[in-house]
Amino acid sequence: MTEDALHMTRALDLAALGLNTTDPNPRVGCVLVRHGRIVGEGWHERAGEPHAEVHALHAAGAQARGATAYVTLEPCSHTGRTPPCADALIAAGIARVVCAARDPNPRVAGAGLARLEAAGVAVQSGLLESGARALNPGFFSRFERGRPHVRLKLAMSLDARTGSAEGGRTWITGEASRADVQAWRARSSAVLTGAGTVLIDNPRLDVRIVYGPWVRQPLRVVLDSELRCPPHSAVFGGDHAIVFAAADAAQASVEGADAASRRIERVPRSERGLDLPAVMQRLAALEVNEVLVECGARLAAGFRRCRRSRLRTNPQAETRFPNNFLEGRTQRLSGKVRALCEAAAPKRLARGRHMSAAKDPVAGFPR
Ligand SMILES: NC(=O)c1ccc[n+]([C@@H]2O[C@H](COP(=O)([O-])OP(=O)(O)OC[C@H]3O[C@@H](n4cnc5c(N)ncnc54)[C@H](OP(=O)(O)O)[C@@H]3O)[C@@H](O)[C@H]2O)c1
Repeated sequence: MTEDALHMTRALDLAALGLNTTDPNPRVGCVLVRHGRIVGEGWHERAGEPHAEVHALHAAGAQARGATAYVTLEPCSHTGRTPPCADALIAAGIARVVCAARDPNPRVAGAGLARLEAAGVAVQSGLLESGARALNPGFFSRFERGRPHVRLKLAMSLDARTGSAEGGRTWITGEASRADVQAWRARSSAVLTGAGTVLIDNPRLDVRIVYGPWVRQPLRVVLDSELRCPPHSAVFGGDHAIVFAAADAAQASVEGADAASRRIERVPRSERGLDLPAVMQRLAALEVNEVLVECGARLAAGFRRCRRSRLRTNPQAETRFPNNFLEGRTQRLSGKVRALCEAAAPKRLARGRHMSAAKDPVAGFPR
């Protein structure tokens, strides 16, 4: 590994420390190196607070002069919640800036590097870019595709069931899977579900792990065309929730006490319910980077149009399936898939630790 790659790897590790907290900002890390020695490090922790470069410059002090800055994302050139980092790097006398990825935000998009170059700073970009993108799939998706990065979590039995046929509340997974779900929620900008799950399970969909001095709660999102979910549902118990309803659905009592617990947004209908691309577009406009979908079979099927999906049985065993997996409301996993699952983790499956998670673009598994 080259020295540049080594330092960028360290910067990526630092960026990852902000996994659960930077939203809606990207996770970014920075390392300052002078004469082969690290003189300052930093990462962005929370929107509105200093960016990674500012923390690293602060740690380096006068030693920043003549140093190389390794930054996982192009330094910003605009005044947002904080002043431009490009200016701070120039003022500190940084001689060279190596960044992993260009900022897809049109307010930056190359302008940060151009500003550095114009000030005589040597710039390079693209080093370990895939690492920076992998850390920020939602941030890149929002600016490049106009929608968040979507993950679908489905707890599923070996015969592809995701809920009780009688319609009651059931537990399919065990402790380990629930811990996984907490980790996925913690990094997500929003957790999204359907009216069916709210009415049957009444989940809170919140983060209950403590990972630092404060815990960021994701936005709770419910797709409820006709506004059937009662305003006192547990999912509306946090400080922010959005209900997407059909544009032509009857007016709900959204004033007064209701209005405090949930905001109602109207979107067009589609063949199966609400227009999911319209929902995603609106969430992107609300700066939602990553969405974790935790729903029942019906909404999961709505997310099914996909080119690929993954079934996760455990971290060591990940399997890709063709597009037509479970097409046509098939009730059972195909023999091949079932064999793969059993081969991957027979003991864990037997203990009920079977969790499937389709990665973006999402796939659905009908009950
Ligand atoms: N295994 C798991 O991982 C898991 C997770 C959560 C829940 N569950 C189980 O799933 C069961 C509930 O499943 P469910 O299918 O009734 O509920 P669901 O998938 O959570 O919600 C379905 C509802 O979402 C609304 N919706 C809005 N737009 C939609 C669209 N484009 N496509 C599809 N639906 C859309 C529809 O209600 P409107 O027409 O009223 O809008 C629809 O009835 C419960 O038994 C629960 O325990 C399992």
